[in-house]
Amino acid sequence: MVGKTPESIEAIRPLKEGVIADFEITEKMIKHFIQKSHSRNSFIRPRIIICIPYGLTQVERKAVKTSAMNAGARDVILVEEPKAAAIGAGLPIQDPKGNMVIDIGGGTTEIGVISLGGLVKSKSIRVGGDKFDQAIIDYVKKKFNLLIGERTAEDVKIEIATAIAPDKEMKMAIKGRDQVTGLLKSIEITSKDVRDSMSETLVEISDAVKQVLEVVPPDLASDIVDNGIVLTGGGSLIRGLDSYISKIIKLPVYISEEPLLAVAKGTERMLDEIELLQQIQSTNA
Ligand SMILES: Nc1ncnc2c1ncn2[C@@H]1O[C@H](COP(=O)(O)OP(=O)(O)OP(=O)(O)O)[C@@H](O)[C@H]1O
Ligand SMILES: [Mg+2]
Repeated sequence: MVGKTPESIEAIRPLKEGVIADFEITEKMIKHFIQKSHSRNSFIRPRIIICIPYGLTQVERKAVKTSAMNAGARDVILVEEPKAAAIGAGLPIQDPKGNMVIDIGGGTTEIGVISLGGLVKSKSIRVGGDKFDQAIIDYVKKKFNLLIGERTAEDVKIEIATAIAPDKEMKMAIKGRDQVTGLLKSIEITSKDVRDSMSETLVEISDAVKQVLEVVPPDLASDIVDNGIVLTGGGSLIRGLDSYISKIIKLPVYISEEPLLAVAKGTERMLDEIELLQQIQSTNA
C-alpha cells in the first residue's frame, strides 16, 4: 500500500533503517504477530526472540525489548542478525572455525565473522535494499526528469538490477510524473542505468566487507579462504552480487538457500534448541 493510499489512509513503515521508527505501531505489529501465531488466543504471553542489527545502541536495544514486552511478551531475547542469518544459512557457527556471512536486508547490511557461537568481528552499515531503491529514484529524477515512487523503484530493482554487466542488458518501461510538464509519462530504463545508479551503494557494501576482512584473526581468515562467504537477506538476490563481491575480495561468495528466510529460519532453530540459544544469545542486550 505504500505510495498508493487515499488521503484517509496512511501506510507507515514501523521499522526503518533497521531501527524502530514508530513505537506505537511497532508494538501493534508485534501484538498482531503474537495473535497470529497463537490462533488469536490473546492470553498467551510467549517468549520471543528478536533479531537486531549488530550496530544497535543500548538505547535502541532497550526500545526493541520494551516494545515486545508491551506487546505481551513474557520474555524477550535479543540475538544479533548475523548470527541468526549464519545459522539459517546452515553454517556450523558453534565450531571453532571462521564462518563469515553478509546479510543484506532492506535497511541494514550486517557482516559477521562467527566462531564458537560468538561474533568475532562484525560490522553493520545502514545501507541495504531501500538505499538501492532510493538511488534508482534519484537517478531517474536526474536523468529522465521523472518522479517515480518507492514501489516502482523496487520493482525495477527486482526485475532488472544487476551488480555486474550481464551477457545481455535488460530494459523495462516505467511510469511516473514528468517534473517539467507535470504530466504522466512512460520511459524505458535499462539495466545499465540501474547499475550506474547503484554503484555507490555497492561500493559502500564491498568496502565494509573489506574492512571486516582486514581485521579477521589469521587462523579464522584461513577458514574463510577455504570455505568462502555466505550471502543472505533479500539484497543478495540482486543479480550478480555474489560475483561482484567475490571479484573485489578475491574469495568465493555463495548465496544461501532462500536468502530472504535465513534470519527467520535461524531464529526458528534457536527457539527449538535452547542450548544453541544459550550459547549464542547476545551478551550485551
Ligand atoms: N528478487 C529480489 N531482488 C533484489 N532485491 C530483492 C529481491 N527480493 C527482495 N529484495 C529486497 O530485499 C530487501 C528485504 O530483504 P530482507 O527481508 O532480508 O530485509 P529485512 O530483514 O526486512 O531488513 P533488515 O535486515 O535491514 O532489518 C528489500 O529491500 C527488497 O526490495
Ligand atoms: Mg534482515
